[in-house]
Amino acid sequence: MSSRLTDEFVERVRSESDIVSVVSGYVSMKKKGNRYWGCCPFHQENTPSFSVVPDQGFFYCFGCHAGGNVFKFVSMVEGISYYEAIKLQAERLNIPLPQREKTEQEIAREQRLADLQKVHEMARSFFHNCLTKTHYGVPGQRYFASRRITPAIIEEFQLGYAPDAWDKLSAAFLKRGIKEDLLLESGLVAQRRQGSGVYDRFRNRVMIPIADERGRVVGFGGRVMDDSQPKYLNSPETVLFNKRKLLFGLDRAHRAIKQAGHAIVVEGYMDAISVYGAGIHNVVASLGTAFTLEQCKKLLRYASEIYFCYDSDAAGQNATVRAMDIVKETGAVVKVISIPDGKDPDEFLRHHSADEFRALVAAALPIVEYHIQYVLKAVDYTNLEGKVNALNAMLPVVADLRNAVELNGYISRIAQILGIDEGVVRSELQRFSKQPADRSAASGTAMRRVVRRADDAIRRAGRVVIRVLWQDSGAAVHLASLIPIEAFSNAQHREILQLLLEAGSKGTAMNDMMAEEQLSPEASEELSRAMVEDFGGQDPLDLYEDCVRTLRREYLRRRYEEHRLKADELQRMGDDGFWQELKESQRIKNEMDEL
Ligand code: GTP
Ligand code: MN
Repeated sequence: MSSRLTDEFVERVRSESDIVSVVSGYVSMKKKGNRYWGCCPFHQENTPSFSVVPDQGFFYCFGCHAGGNVFKFVSMVEGISYYEAIKLQAERLNIPLPQREKTEQEIAREQRLADLQKVHEMARSFFHNCLTKTHYGVPGQRYFASRRITPAIIEEFQLGYAPDAWDKLSAAFLKRGIKEDLLLESGLVAQRRQGSGVYDRFRNRVMIPIADERGRVVGFGGRVMDDSQPKYLNSPETVLFNKRKLLFGLDRAHRAIKQAGHAIVVEGYMDAISVYGAGIHNVVASLGTAFTLEQCKKLLRYASEIYFCYDSDAAGQNATVRAMDIVKETGAVVKVISIPDGKDPDEFLRHHSADEFRALVAAALPIVEYHIQYVLKAVDYTNLEGKVNALNAMLPVVADLRNAVELNGYISRIAQILGIDEGVVRSELQRFSKQPADRSAASGTAMRRVVRRADDAIRRAGRVVIRVLWQDSGAAVHLASLIPIEAFSNAQHREILQLLLEAGSKGTAMNDMMAEEQLSPEASEELSRAMVEDFGGQDPLDLYEDCVRTLRREYLRRRYEEHRLKADELQRMGDDGFWQELKESQRIKNEMDEL
């Protein structure tokens, strides 16, 4: 982690961050005993295996093994770094960041970002003024009027026009003292191929400013006013402009999204503008690329439901299915708004009222329903092969259904539509659902099961010990005298215990920040698990001695076997040393029996 944040600062943010209330912002949880349970936000599941134990300050998912402290949770759920998560929590708690001298490099970088930002703001005014205040803007005005974009909308979105010339913007900006390299970096101009100097990137296009969620302009989309190509020209990617992370309109929409409980995602800028113009403000557009996980996570900060409203042509439908795949992983509730007659939302609103659009929103199809209809359209299910294909394509979404009544409803409907027996649908579904479970069960012989049970007992004992030493790392020194840390068979346990031993011998208390910094991700997950595990409702302290005994017995058993093997080997080679080994193995055996 960066050393930019002082320890006191991080400690303060941590102690003021209540893990239960933070997690509750993303996951609905129920309290059972001293822990909370909910459905894991990091993988798809129907029964809660995600647990938070506030006393320990840890979360852990028994399904996907994600785990850690409050910062780890925030970093995972928001898709940001651990360091960013600390800062985000500080912001939420109104804890000011520690002041600190910036390096010259940082000052220069921040200045550059601020300059780039300023150039974009200037460009927005430039294009907007061209449209609204100069004669150059007449074609743009005419174009917007033809699309029924009102002056109020032009104001609201600060729409603009780039004149039909090669140097209007560059000449004006250079004259105002903006350096050429800054203009080039902004993407507003490009280097001339021949000779020196630059030329305007956007010419004879209506201009749509694209802002980040705080409303700062970071790029532009420019549309031609006829059928020429490319229809849209966007700013190139810059340090400010990342298409995968931005959503057009989010700066205006986020409050409405929160209020409505869902975001409407459309494909085009013009769609977003029209829908917004119709008074439906919870709308954003992805920027001409496939909907990304980053965009999804951004929306989930404001609402848990996402309604896709893509074009009803084949490309739009495919984009919808791809977007649903992305979103599925995040646990967001997804619905699909279908626009009749192959139209996009903007075209629909040209001929229909806002209320008619609202009716389409209200009639949005749940993901399963949409997917079934999508498959039925895509697959010819009049023959047997087609029926099998259609059924296979439907199973993954149907298998995700949580509600039994709903599930049964879909099973009989699918059977009816495809003209196959309900029992067949049911058994196929069962087979599909069982697949992953079978793999994890590693169906094997009785022997393998016995070994696995022994492993489980040792792992459990290791967890109990870790949990107890976490509160009292001083005791780690005593543990290490009974069982050398390197003798633990579980690599993660070795790592955690080593850290506890170091803390214990130095007399420092352990905390989650140290663990997060010093442990491997696997060990950190295992630690989280140890911290939230419910050991059959028993106090880990009461189990401690027993568990240490189990672990010591395991340690001795291994040593016993080592000495026995060694003795066998030496005897075979005719080495008298085998007596020594045999005696040692016997001594160990005696101790094991006494334990
Ligand atoms: P209008 O024709 O103005 O109504 O636009 P639309 O929103 O209906 O456009 P379309 O459905 O064709 O495209 C949706 C989005 O894809 C647009 O808003 C752009 O972000 C992007 N896009 C479309 N055409 C182009 C193009 O030629 N180049 C680039 N870079 N992006 C495009
Ligand atoms: Mn359109």
